[in-house]
Amino acid sequence: MSKIKLFSGGEIPVEMHRVYTVQNIRLIPVKDRLHALDEAGNCSYNLKSEDVFIDMLTDSGCNAMSDRQSAAFHEADFAYAGGASYYRLAAKIKELFGKEYFLPVHQGRACEHMLARSFVKPGDIVPTNFHFCTILTQVRLAGGTVVEMLQDKGVTTLGEDGFKGDYDLEKLKKLLDETPAEKIPFLRIEAGTNLIGGQPISMDNINAVSKLARAHGVRVLLDMSLAMDNIHFIRVRDEKRKNMTVREITRELADAADIIYFSGRKLGFARGGGICMNSRSDFLKVRGNVTTYEGFPTFGGVSSAELEIMRVGLDDTMDPDVISQGPDFIEYMVDEFKKRGVPVVTPAGGLGCHLDADRFCAHLGREDFRGAALAAAIYIVSGARGMERGLSSELPEDSIAPFELVRLAVPRRVYTLSHIMYVIDRVTWLYQHRELIGALRWEDESIPEHSFIDFLRPVGDWQEKLAEEYMKTGLE
Ligand SMILES: Cc1ncc(COP(=O)(O)O)c(C=O)c1O
Repeated sequence: MSKIKLFSGGEIPVEMHRVYTVQNIRLIPVKDRLHALDEAGNCSYNLKSEDVFIDMLTDSGCNAMSDRQSAAFHEADFAYAGGASYYRLAAKIKELFGKEYFLPVHQGRACEHMLARSFVKPGDIVPTNFHFCTILTQVRLAGGTVVEMLQDKGVTTLGEDGFKGDYDLEKLKKLLDETPAEKIPFLRIEAGTNLIGGQPISMDNINAVSKLARAHGVRVLLDMSLAMDNIHFIRVRDEKRKNMTVREITRELADAADIIYFSGRKLGFARGGGICMNSRSDFLKVRGNVTTYEGFPTFGGVSSAELEIMRVGLDDTMDPDVISQGPDFIEYMVDEFKKRGVPVVTPAGGLGCHLDADRFCAHLGREDFRGAALAAAIYIVSGARGMERGLSSELPEDSIAPFELVRLAVPRRVYTLSHIMYVIDRVTWLYQHRELIGALRWEDESIPEHSFIDFLRPVGDWQEKLAEEYMKTGLE
């Protein structure tokens, strides 16, 4: 039970936890927000956390820990080699995912670095439902190419299909038939597709993809970084699996893969990452690279305290009330925005509520950095920071999705419903005054390849005018 029906009508998501440890936050005045944004070059990543009221940049490594996780911190064995913390975590991985071998690494992209180094050769092809920027970089650095295989239903911000992360099986079959298996070091499945709005992939689709790949002698690699959301959606959206436990679904998911990796900053509410598998020869290859690049294989560059936190966090994740908290809050946001006419990605996904900046700022062109401009405007009127997902954070040629989004991530168990309601309120005000949002341009146009933390500058004084109009409301 994570939603409560109200006597007065309607339904709200309810926090299935109580809070004993808190951190204070503050909302700085609008004028100071304008100044902070200017200093940050209009890039929400560059804002100082102390200048942010509600931090919805990401849910990576900033989720709240449970009391059991805090307690586990003190059980850490900091031995350089053979620490008990490693063996306890490896046993938990085996229990939940059924994989014999486990290698911790410092975060999700380190898993991808190790896997690309171990398996990808120049000229190789890596099929995936949809890329995430970090895997794309690692495969490219190793000389390979990532090929997107998402169904068309995923490349839109509209629609209500519950599993927009599904592979196009026909496309995949064609690729596998036409490509020699030795040119495909692995096929990647991303559970909880990040860049299309945290949209899940269905279990039936995963099983079909896995069967096809294995029949062609291709390894199946599963990115479980966002799996807790995906597992939640399988439980609530897949009629066939409605009565399965989280553990059973997790195991079915894991069994479809030969190698699993995850960012422990997301899965397991910790800070770290891990790779697991059953093949001893694959394990030995990856272990060699982990030793060279991450650390001794029984800690892989991760503090033993985090290994303990990850172990208990993975176990906590088997509780449906724990994994529903994020998606329920996100669904609440999406529903409220829909009621108010604010354009959002539908249906609600995991990770965060995604605003559709193309429709929100239809009066601007794509070259105006609609997503980044919207994220900047949200900060001015609310002190909340979201993350632009569009032109300024991806190279145009990598962005097969023809949309610009602003993600309002929901760090798990960190914010309460009143925080969420506040953000909905201020974004709604902004939508009603959206014509005040103007364009951004790179500060230094001479940089050949921009990075997502490079500075942008407003065209004209629209930010001051937006702030003035907002201050007339008398709101903070
Ligand atoms: C699906 C997915 N894979 C990999 C990563 C990379 O993980 P990390 O940020 O820990 O390097 C992320 C991070 O957001 C992700 O969402």
